[in-house]
Amino acid sequence: MSDYKVHFDLNVLPAEDIFEPPAPLLAGAHVRGLPNYYELYKESINNPDRFWKTVASQLYFETDSDRGLEYNFDHRKGDVFIRFMSGARSNIAYNCLERNIAKGLGSKVALKWEGNEPADSSQVTYQELLDKVVAFSAVLRSKGVRKGDTVAIYLPMIIELPVAMLACARIGTIHTVVFAGFSSDSLATRILQAKAKVLVTADGCFRGNKPIHLKMLADQAVGICLNEGHRMDSVIVLEHLKRVTVPAKAKVPEVLINKDLDVFWDQAVDSVRGVESPVEWNEAEDPLFILYTSGSTGAPKGIVHTTIGYMVYTYLTTKLSFDAQPDDIYWCTADCGWITGHSYVTYGPLLNGMTVVIHEGVPTYPDPSRMWEMVEKYKVTKLYTAPTAVRALMAFSKDLVTKHDRSSLKIIGTVGEPINPSAWKWLYHVVGEDKCAVVDTYWQTETGGHVIVPLPGATPTKPGAATLPFLGVEPALVDHRGAALEGPGEGNLCMARAWPGMMRTVYGDHSRFVKTFFSSFPGYYFTGDGARRDDDSYYWITGRVDDLMNVSGHLLSTAEIESALVLHPDVVEAAVVAAPHDIKGQFPYAFVSLVNGKSLTDTLIAQLKATVREKIGALAMPDIIQEAPGLPKTRSGKITRRILRKIAEGDKGADLGDTTTLIDQSVIVQLWSTRPAVK
Ligand code: PRX
Repeated sequence: MSDYKVHFDLNVLPAEDIFEPPAPLLAGAHVRGLPNYYELYKESINNPDRFWKTVASQLYFETDSDRGLEYNFDHRKGDVFIRFMSGARSNIAYNCLERNIAKGLGSKVALKWEGNEPADSSQVTYQELLDKVVAFSAVLRSKGVRKGDTVAIYLPMIIELPVAMLACARIGTIHTVVFAGFSSDSLATRILQAKAKVLVTADGCFRGNKPIHLKMLADQAVGICLNEGHRMDSVIVLEHLKRVTVPAKAKVPEVLINKDLDVFWDQAVDSVRGVESPVEWNEAEDPLFILYTSGSTGAPKGIVHTTIGYMVYTYLTTKLSFDAQPDDIYWCTADCGWITGHSYVTYGPLLNGMTVVIHEGVPTYPDPSRMWEMVEKYKVTKLYTAPTAVRALMAFSKDLVTKHDRSSLKIIGTVGEPINPSAWKWLYHVVGEDKCAVVDTYWQTETGGHVIVPLPGATPTKPGAATLPFLGVEPALVDHRGAALEGPGEGNLCMARAWPGMMRTVYGDHSRFVKTFFSSFPGYYFTGDGARRDDDSYYWITGRVDDLMNVSGHLLSTAEIESALVLHPDVVEAAVVAAPHDIKGQFPYAFVSLVNGKSLTDTLIAQLKATVREKIGALAMPDIIQEAPGLPKTRSGKITRRILRKIAEGDKGADLGDTTTLIDQSVIVQLWSTRPAVK
């Protein structure tokens, strides 16, 4: 491998658009200054095995291995695979808990939970967390769960969620966490696809004033699975509602118990008291979890991460991207239902022995100062959140921020979508008072951890740029013919080599893995995003180049929403495109062709939205549904989405490109004239 050439001449931007690492961070950071980053980066690229071995030596392995990264990205040369430290055995939960306790962290607070209501809170130390994990792993074993089985977890953001994940990891069981905002249909699909025989859920929860009937949704999902002939062994139900404050205007969800399947969490834990539940020493490539993410062809993809590579990578990215220090109070606002909650709520921070704040509620409840109130209350040093939350909070008076003491803050990270420079600057100036590093972290469910990210004590930042590759990561911008661009330019963002924490396959469908990620540009992993590289070799993510849209930092598949819409008997055809939204980034805009004689009434719109909510979840509901007597199609029958996108964007002056291939050009005029006003 030749030496990687990067030139770091930062003189191309006006000085005010470059933000140097804050001086106090520079002093004690793990990586100090750009030359230090560059030196480490060179080592990670030129001697990857030596580099990753040094990182791995900071963790515990029951059995070591002298093998490093082995991979093939080129399907023309054989099967695509990625392996790291083959033959080694370890356990990520052991490394999060026992290893840190042995280092003296037993009485350090591991997790601090704050409920939906500010009055509700609790915490556990590393030792208490271990005790809970051991007990729950014994419960799982008592239900017949073994190494290699899958357990589905459908819980709100409470301490028991990381407990359940770590308990699975302890015994070599694969967890699949389903975000508690997903519908019963989505949960059922994931239980079936992952072949989970045990489901861990709760009676319910509140999101703001809204009750979430989790148990009812879980029951519906289990019903669907049983109807499909799937065997369910057990549903473990946490009684969460009885320990939380009920919001003033909310009704407590009703809970039905199914005596054949259901068992209460606390009773199950009582029944295994004193039972030992030893650590399972997992092989390097034993699956750790499956996490479903939207796929452009409709069905969600079960992204598989394995034990050791994921552990080493989340350990190092957390340590460096957030400059993990012993006195940190780290708060990541993500839910464990998403990859961010796996890598940067649970595994990465606990591997680093950090104190982690988790929040069950939303940042605007009971009022939009909640986030800053919590920063003050817990003296948060590192805050990790999403641009969509930042944009929502920016809309309110600055006083809501400034009335709370934020002097503890050192680093503010964002994830999920490109951050617009004005939101970046608001974080930097208003929230961080010009004293914090703002790090825009680019990564994906598939990448397992950060892949393009500034290191807070090293990388000068530019608002809106994800900046430079993480150690060991080699991005490439590839043109439509598959040729990598040299120097500045724009192209399809690919990765030219593997890193330990990347996905290994799509669960049960390895050919989909190869097709989706490795066939567009043979020899490269294709992220599905576009990016620009500037004169300083900084990367600016320009967004998805496939049929996925990013709504509030969550990827949604247009095809999946379309499939939900056409389930309604009145809909003949549907086309969904992304339209820009001030807070959510993008929103789903749907065009529907109806059966003869039907028209798009308010009732039908409500029914269509409800169908999408039921099939996928509330976050996929289209904000606008427009009736389309005809959809613009090419002669070969392909819907021309670029035209629909322009209509959804409301950009009348836009160049629609070549429309001569359309069967019926009058459709465009018709859609423009009936476009509903955007509220
Ligand atoms: O389009 C990119 C966007 O989110 C996608 C990954 O989504 P998901 O797998 O759900 O994981 C989200 C949390 C890691 C990417 O393909 N994305 C994520 N972070 C950024 C981003 N786009 C631009 N800048 C980011 N920092």
